[in-house]
Amino acid sequence: MLSLCSLCSYLLSFCFVFISQFSNSVDAQAQDYDYPTAALSTQWTNNATANHSIPYTDGSTVRSILLRAKGAIGPAYACGFYCNGNCNTYLFAVFIVQVNSGGLIVQPAIGFPQVVWSANRNNPVKIGAMLELTSEGDLVLKDADGTVAWSTNTSGKSVVGLNLTDLGNLVLFDKNNLTVWQSFSQPTDSLVPGQMLKVGQRLIPSVSGTNWTVDGMITLSMSSSGLSAQMETSPPQIYYEYSIDNPNASNESPYVEFVNGSLALFSNSTTNLSVISVPQASSVQYMKLGSDGHLRVFEWLSGWKEVADLLTGYLGDCDYPTVCGQYGICSNGQCSCPASSGGTSYYKQVDDRQPSLGCSENVPLSCGASQYQSLLELENVMYFTFTSDLKDIDASTCKETCAKNCSCKAAIFQYGSNATSGSCYLPSEVFSLMNIDKSKIFYNSTAYLKVQNVTNGAPNTSVDNQRSNRLPVILGSSAGALFVVMFLIVVIVLFVRKRDANEAEEDYLDQVPGMSTRFMYDDLKTITNDFNKKLGKGGFGSVFEGTLIDSTKVAVKRLDGFGQVKKSFLAEVETIGSIHHVNLVRLVGFCADKSHRLLIYEYMSNGSLDRWIFHKSNESVLDWQQRKKIILDIAKGLNYLHEDCRQKILHLDIKPQNILLDGNFNAKVGDFGLSKLIDRDQSQVVTTMRGTPGYLAPEWLSAAITEKVDVYSFGVVILEIVCGRKIFDHSLNEDDMNLLSLFKRKAEEERLLDIVDNYSEDMQLNGLQVVNMMRIAAWCLQADYTKRPSMSIVVKVLEGVSEVQDGLDYNFSAQPSTNKATEFGQMEVEFSATTALIPSVLSGPR
Ligand SMILES: *[C@@H]1O[C@H](CO)[C@@H](O)[C@H](O)[C@H]1NC(C)=O
Ligand SMILES: *[C@@H]1O[C@H](CO)[C@@H](O)[C@H](O)[C@H]1NC(C)=O
Ligand SMILES: *[C@@H]1O[C@H](CO)[C@@H](O)[C@H](O)[C@H]1NC(C)=O
Ligand SMILES: *[C@@H]1O[C@H](CO)[C@@H](O)[C@H](O)[C@H]1NC(C)=O
Ligand SMILES: *[C@@H]1O[C@H](CO)[C@@H](O)[C@H](O)[C@H]1NC(C)=O
Ligand SMILES: *[C@@H]1O[C@H](CO)[C@@H](O)[C@H](O)[C@H]1NC(C)=O
Ligand SMILES: *[C@@H]1O[C@H](CO)[C@@H](O)[C@H](O)[C@H]1NC(C)=O
Ligand SMILES: *[C@@H]1O[C@H](CO)[C@@H](O)[C@H](O)[C@H]1NC(C)=O
Ligand SMILES: *[C@@H]1O[C@H](CO)[C@@H](O)[C@H](O)[C@H]1NC(C)=O
Ligand SMILES: *[C@@H]1O[C@H](CO)[C@@H](O)[C@H](O)[C@H]1NC(C)=O
Ligand SMILES: *[C@@H]1O[C@H](CO)[C@@H](O)[C@H](O)[C@H]1NC(C)=O
Ligand SMILES: *[C@@H]1O[C@H](CO)[C@@H](O)[C@H](O)[C@H]1NC(C)=O
Repeated sequence: MLSLCSLCSYLLSFCFVFISQFSNSVDAQAQDYDYPTAALSTQWTNNATANHSIPYTDGSTVRSILLRAKGAIGPAYACGFYCNGNCNTYLFAVFIVQVNSGGLIVQPAIGFPQVVWSANRNNPVKIGAMLELTSEGDLVLKDADGTVAWSTNTSGKSVVGLNLTDLGNLVLFDKNNLTVWQSFSQPTDSLVPGQMLKVGQRLIPSVSGTNWTVDGMITLSMSSSGLSAQMETSPPQIYYEYSIDNPNASNESPYVEFVNGSLALFSNSTTNLSVISVPQASSVQYMKLGSDGHLRVFEWLSGWKEVADLLTGYLGDCDYPTVCGQYGICSNGQCSCPASSGGTSYYKQVDDRQPSLGCSENVPLSCGASQYQSLLELENVMYFTFTSDLKDIDASTCKETCAKNCSCKAAIFQYGSNATSGSCYLPSEVFSLMNIDKSKIFYNSTAYLKVQNVTNGAPNTSVDNQRSNRLPVILGSSAGALFVVMFLIVVIVLFVRKRDANEAEEDYLDQVPGMSTRFMYDDLKTITNDFNKKLGKGGFGSVFEGTLIDSTKVAVKRLDGFGQVKKSFLAEVETIGSIHHVNLVRLVGFCADKSHRLLIYEYMSNGSLDRWIFHKSNESVLDWQQRKKIILDIAKGLNYLHEDCRQKILHLDIKPQNILLDGNFNAKVGDFGLSKLIDRDQSQVVTTMRGTPGYLAPEWLSAAITEKVDVYSFGVVILEIVCGRKIFDHSLNEDDMNLLSLFKRKAEEERLLDIVDNYSEDMQLNGLQVVNMMRIAAWCLQADYTKRPSMSIVVKVLEGVSEVQDGLDYNFSAQPSTNKATEFGQMEVEFSATTALIPSVLSGPR
């Protein structure tokens, strides 16, 4: 039946093609083959007798005005009138059509026109509408009744013609061929290769393929601080962000461009930095922002195929703001409404048959009746975005703040390092929530939704009536969902079992969209010249130099002992790959091929920091300004991992070997996220201890591990940088061997200048500033982790906006009085005796 149908439609389309070619060749217009430009005083009417009016089997029709066919069979750009659906209204648009070898537009059964730009989305026109390139050089779209639907407003700007370029850009040019107006400067919901998104420009989706109205709620926009996809609330709720941390960004007007293989960032100081990687194009591609917030890439592969879904991260579809509408809770892609509490149900589905449309309040919130409001608690529920509106507070303060503020609709509380305190986000509008998937999220979060109990002081009876029959529905639907999920799992398990385990895993890896570039092992052998040039050995494996085909250098890290790590590897690689910051080493790609696991990083030409501060070789000595900048760079990188990433990431192995320097001595933190890569599969090894002796915070042996362990290690690194020596230096006498003990002694003697790096005259000259830097180190090294500053405070202090706290304790390795203290004492002795002692097999020094 199915194949019969497709045969029919194939024959039908063949007839269509044949007829259209035939009819076109009968009234053969001179411009049938390629007509990419038009002169002034030309008019085109939108009616059935118009040139090249072609209907398609998907319900769309195009009446092309300009066509740029490159003389080859396949996709080509055209502009003209376009409609889809009932075709009562039309767009003036640029679209991609298929042409035959004669340069004629054809209508195959697959390969319908794809609109990539349009002029009048909010103002579609009827049959009889007219596009005119006036003698004054204005391009005007008039509806059938003569009203102006759209205009380029270029009258009197010396326009001499209209050109549809190779890239699909519609250009009005003057007599010197200079561009007066172009469609690329007014992007709609799509980008084509070669198109840019400049500061102030944004993509806004249409409601659907047949309703082109723009509601403007979701946007993907470029600003001088970066690229972001967000809900246009006030303030915006961001669901994807690439921030440019560059003080010069605002006077550099950066932009992103859709190039082959990526959405790349360009600015005066940055050229072609891949913000999001896109599958290499083997044919024509375009990307489109959908009304669901997804940015999808489509490619012509004998039919239009979705080849990537760029903004989807490791949390999957649930991480999109409207996946379950307003107030809907997403769990494995299924939507439900917040459950009732204490016998009251506060939400109902907007449409029982379409849970993804979200939930509405049974009683709308009313600021005037705030005495009847309460906060409905949803444990283990998080939100697609999080901004710390309030920090270091407890959940009840977070709730109270929301209760007191009329415009606050919910309080999202994210637990921090201890069981009582955390950060609080107070959104003014609530979109989709999600249940925390414990395998992906390592913090706890509770959502409190503001709900209204009664209206006008009278109990709302309809709510009570609904309650009795609602509960079974909820139970029923969740049981149904559970059944479907279990059924799917069984099917998948059976399916996978039939196949070779390795092969199945690799198929899975292939299908994940939005990934960093995946390499095959053989490619990497070529790229690294058979792992010929070793750059170093890190805690997780060896690092080799490689050169990509386009001659960019990369560092290839071959992970040891990761053969058995499967899906978690992918999830973590995706997390790492989605983290972008100027002070973090960028992951370019990865390889998961049979038992090989490799990560491909950007190449940092000056290698790791230890090469430059320990005076091992005769390399030049860094001056004070360079060292100060390096310290600030590390702080910013760590701050991003701790506070600005969507998922808090603890590095757990900060040391000079993991800080890398580019050609201009900009420092970037490397190897972040790797610790988590292991967590999952080898937890028994790492729950005890991890890191490198000397850089380990004292609480490793007693208390909860928080981001403050990184702050401690960072403190050690500051000291090493300014003193120009290692934390343990066995060539010195016993008293001076441990830098921390020496630091403590010199601080007590008020002779800190003694330990400033004495290889560098510049450091000695800036002695006072260096000593001040040591105070920051001391603050970071506080034995009581709660007394250490957060990295955001460290950044502020380094930038001179904030001050170092007084009353620092220089007894850095002091332990809270637990019975483990002695153990630590012993270990410390052991550490100082031999730095080769590695508490975690997985993360020794490089
Ligand atoms: C289509 O437009 C042309 C040009 O304005 C006009 O001559 C013709 O009558 C129109 N045809 C119909 C069916 O309206
Ligand atoms: C078809 O195109 C030719 C050349 O541009 C033009 O002269 C003619 O008027 C067009 N016909 C219609 C019906 O628009
Ligand atoms: C042309 O001017 C009108 C009126 O000022 C404005 O609404 C419209 O957006 C302008 N068109 C373009 C393409 O900028
Ligand atoms: C039209 O655009 C093409 C590039 O696609 C360019 O080669 C050509 O010179 C342009 N024509 C005019 C008249 O500007
Ligand atoms: C403009 O472009 C056209 C087509 O590419 C070319 O023939 C013409 O010489 C150009 N004119 C100038 C002034 O560059
Ligand atoms: C298109 O969508 C808008 C916004 O959702 C809606 O108001 C309008 O009625 C829709 N138009 C049609 C023709 O369905
Ligand atoms: C910022 O601009 C100044 C002056 O043009 C330049 O010296 C500095 O290197 C730039 N900084 C960055 C991070 O590009
Ligand atoms: C960046 O480049 C633009 C255009 O080339 C220029 O106008 C601007 O001054 C440059 N900015 C800096 C900071 O160099
Ligand atoms: C994109 O790059 C790949 C790899 O370099 C190349 O094979 C392909 O032809 C390019 N695609 C286009 C459309 O240029
Ligand atoms: C709202 O109703 C819930 C459940 O009936 C009750 O626990 C709560 O105290 C009520 N809150 C207010 C402010 O009336
Ligand atoms: C939790 O942390 C907060 C702030 O960081 C602190 O004020 C509070 O005392 C801590 N509570 C416990 C039980 O450690
Ligand atoms: C999250 O909460 C659960 C209990 O609700 C607790 O067992 C667990 O330790 C908490 N995890 C974190 C990281 O705070």
